[in-house]
Amino acid sequence: MRKLFIAGNWKQNGRLALVEGALQTLSQQPEAMWQDCEVSLFLPYPLLDFAIDKKQMSGLPLVIGAQNVSAYADGAYTGEVSADLLAELGTKAVLVGHSERRALFDESEPLILEKMKRAHAAGLNVVWCIGETQLDREGGQHFERIRTQLVDTIRALGIAALSKIVIAYEPVWAIGTGLAASTHQIQEMHQYIRDLISDFDKNIAEQLRIIYGGSLNRDNIGQVLMMPDVDGALVGGASLDPSHFVSLCHIGTEVNKKLES
Ligand code: 13P
Repeated sequence: MRKLFIAGNWKQNGRLALVEGALQTLSQQPEAMWQDCEVSLFLPYPLLDFAIDKKQMSGLPLVIGAQNVSAYADGAYTGEVSADLLAELGTKAVLVGHSERRALFDESEPLILEKMKRAHAAGLNVVWCIGETQLDREGGQHFERIRTQLVDTIRALGIAALSKIVIAYEPVWAIGTGLAASTHQIQEMHQYIRDLISDFDKNIAEQLRIIYGGSLNRDNIGQVLMMPDVDGALVGGASLDPSHFVSLCHIGTEVNKKLES
């Protein structure tokens, strides 16, 4: 069974005090939660060092990740942060291709590919975010959009790279809207993604974790995680409340136990 993956994406939110609060709440959780669930927090750059320090002192198996990475090696790229520097700080993972970066900062597929290459070369795991817009879905183009986001990049990276990648399906219309996709829409797309990867390599497709993001909270996450091709969650707003976030991890581990039995 694929290990449950629950991640919080704080976006441009959070201060030092929230890091302290989140780490404190996480450190009060039972050992069993950590065994059953890989928990990650994707933080703004300036909070990474502080969070990694705190995490190391607490000994928690929490993964601290960045929300972005430069497509370039060190050099004259004002405002950018290299994958090598992130790795040196102890960052273990990075989000690439989030729809907010695609839409607000014009990130293209070739740029996203470069970011993934840099991340991998530095030893960072990647959570690769993909998702269709409302217009795509209304026009019946949602599968095609996902195929476009995936196929060329996989060909360029090589299918083996997917063993260090988690794919996050985040329909743009479900992000921050309070309108999560239905379990049917989610399962259908996750299965589509797994089938598509399976055309490259069956084993990798079987092991690949595909997680969902978009307006998840403690009321809807249980049903979403019941879906056979959903292996976890990428949570925005609800991850800013540490007790809400850990309740999502607990609901996830409960669902997994049910599915196993
Ligand atoms: P919300 O959970 O706030 O909808 O955000 C989802 C998201 O974009 C996570 O990356």
